[in-house]
Amino acid sequence: MTRKVCVIGWPVAHSRSPIIHNHWIAKYGIEDAEYVRLAVEPEGAAHTIRNLAGLGFIGANVTVPHKETAFAALERHDAMAARLKAVNTIVTLADGTLEGRNTDGYGFIANLKDRAPGWRADKGPAVILGAGGAARAIAAALEDEGAPEIRIVNRTRARSEALVAELRLFSARIVAGPDAVKALKEAALLVNTTTLGMKGESDVDLDLGKLPKSALVTDIVYTPLETGLLRRAREAGHQVVDGLGMLLHQAVPGFEAWFGVRPDVTEELRELVLADIAGK
Ligand code: ATR
Repeated sequence: MTRKVCVIGWPVAHSRSPIIHNHWIAKYGIEDAEYVRLAVEPEGAAHTIRNLAGLGFIGANVTVPHKETAFAALERHDAMAARLKAVNTIVTLADGTLEGRNTDGYGFIANLKDRAPGWRADKGPAVILGAGGAARAIAAALEDEGAPEIRIVNRTRARSEALVAELRLFSARIVAGPDAVKALKEAALLVNTTTLGMKGESDVDLDLGKLPKSALVTDIVYTPLETGLLRRAREAGHQVVDGLGMLLHQAVPGFEAWFGVRPDVTEELRELVLADIAGK
């Protein structure tokens, strides 16, 4: 029987998950496996997610705008999905029930460990630009990894407050936009989770002068691979890590759960996804 997995989104044509998972399916010789895109309108998302088995799927990834819907549609969750109230990976458990998981924060941390060997979250405060879904996953993961303080800098203060309250972050500080420069003092990590820096958008214009030279700078935007923020940070002497690896690493736990093989994130896979980005 074919083991089918899908990525559910709306729109979903842009999703690079099929490239990643089908590369691994071929590489590890997983027989009778298939990973496809499933475009599902918001009205139909909860029903589709609950009915995955009926549609012939053993699991799924969930992307925008359905991550919160997926959380609400499922009765079982892993600890991270329960904390974030958002699901990006669905697996079928041994008893046939579906479990919603969230691997976004795992992907973020694994990318830093992979590209910046020796990096540790407990070296100093982390500054997060943005307070959307990605910022939530990253803040929770950094706290779990031992970051001593998490400073949230966002244009809309109410969203920062909701993030800190809903995640029950124990060591968070909300920083108003104009004070962002001060938040960089003594920081060990700066991460951009806003859409600023994406192709066609303006760049993050935060002055990095107060950021210690030892601080790592990373961005979850990966089109372009080197955002304006990363370029400025690199030129100022910071170690930088681009955001493509977060996408690749977040896929690892799902693949392992569905197919029983823990896949490697390799340079070959990076090149494959980069070629797809370049072709678009
Ligand atoms: P995701 O779920 O992918 O993290 P999101 O929830 O849409 O995406 O969040 C986008 C983030 O980028 C938000 O923090 C948003 O700031 P607001 O909460 O103030 O809306 C931030 N963002 C988007 N455009 C921005 C801009 N022009 N200037 C500053 N922040 C911006």
